[in-house]
Amino acid sequence: EKGGWSSFMAKEVSEEPDAVSNTLRGRLHDGAVVIPELEGLDDLFRDVSRVIVIACGTAAYAGQVGKYALEQWTRVPVDVELAHEFRYRDPVLGPDTLVVSISQSGETMDTLMAVKYARERGAKTLSICNTQGATIPRESDAVVYTHAGPEVAVASTKAFVAQITALYLFGLHVARLRGSLSPVEIADHVVELEAVPGKIAQILEREQPRIEQFAHWMADTRSVLFLGRHVGFPIAMEGALKLKELAYIHAEGFAAGELKHGPIALIEAGQPVFVIVPSPRGSGELHRKVISSIEEISARGARVIAIAEEGDAAVLPQADEVLRIPLAGPLFEPLLAVVPLHIFAMGLATAKGLDVDQPRNLAKSVTVE
Ligand code: F6R
Repeated sequence: EKGGWSSFMAKEVSEEPDAVSNTLRGRLHDGAVVIPELEGLDDLFRDVSRVIVIACGTAAYAGQVGKYALEQWTRVPVDVELAHEFRYRDPVLGPDTLVVSISQSGETMDTLMAVKYARERGAKTLSICNTQGATIPRESDAVVYTHAGPEVAVASTKAFVAQITALYLFGLHVARLRGSLSPVEIADHVVELEAVPGKIAQILEREQPRIEQFAHWMADTRSVLFLGRHVGFPIAMEGALKLKELAYIHAEGFAAGELKHGPIALIEAGQPVFVIVPSPRGSGELHRKVISSIEEISARGARVIAIAEEGDAAVLPQADEVLRIPLAGPLFEPLLAVVPLHIFAMGLATAKGLDVDQPRNLAKSVTVE
């Protein structure tokens, strides 16, 4: 039930804090990560030498965010691949390969077929899924459920933040098994994770009305670009996907470093560009590089909408709008930065009078290949 909300999507975006906290619930104990579903399965994960994440659409962007954390924390190489590409290229798989599938519905045919394919070729399989008892978790060796609650709107929102949360929990679980992080380091990351729901709630409270107003002003926009770097790159892709599917306008996400290799040719006066700005407290170098991308595009007339942490003044000279997110560790910023983009896509589609729950040509669960 929509319960007072104008759409399921509005309700589901408002539930993003709960999607994270419910996914964490029962899995954190005194600064340690304990995933009851994975009990007795240590052998499955301790000795893997490679992880391949497979998924489609938004779930694949969650996988791309997860790659940064998984590699950093476990020191196991991680590749992320679209499920429908993976299966048709004769991938190298073996018993030391762990294939992690991510799916909200657990029924996406492309992802299911890729999981079966990986299993038949001897790889180990873990499913990250939001739907209890769905086909993909049943076909996998192990499952970590996201507890985002039922997602009704066709476009995925709260499931996305829950998927990143589950991947992070899994990464910390494996880091403990392999000894690649100390208990103190794990506890620090757990503190960050536990703070995420409150920070998302803050964004919804402080920025949502402004973003909706702003989306309203932009209702006639024909094209929007999104730039990000590092973990901000998949967030840029997610922002663009959501805008395409909800508002039916041309949108593209780029890695900020790729600008000068081509996309900067698209920049002309008035072109709206969202830029996800990493915290200056993380890698100062990353921050400086993104600020210099902002300078390059604004010099060419782009209308820059920066998503930046509170207090970051470096964005002010060039940005036309600044959407603020609370302070967080570098790997936890994507869980915050995506929220304004979900609100924006929903706001712009609403301003155009479109049905945000049922975009044209799309189905919630894609059960054909
Ligand atoms: C985008 C969206 C889709 C799904 C994709 C995978 O908003 O909803 O891109 O993320 O179809 O679906 P699941 O996660 O059910 O496998």
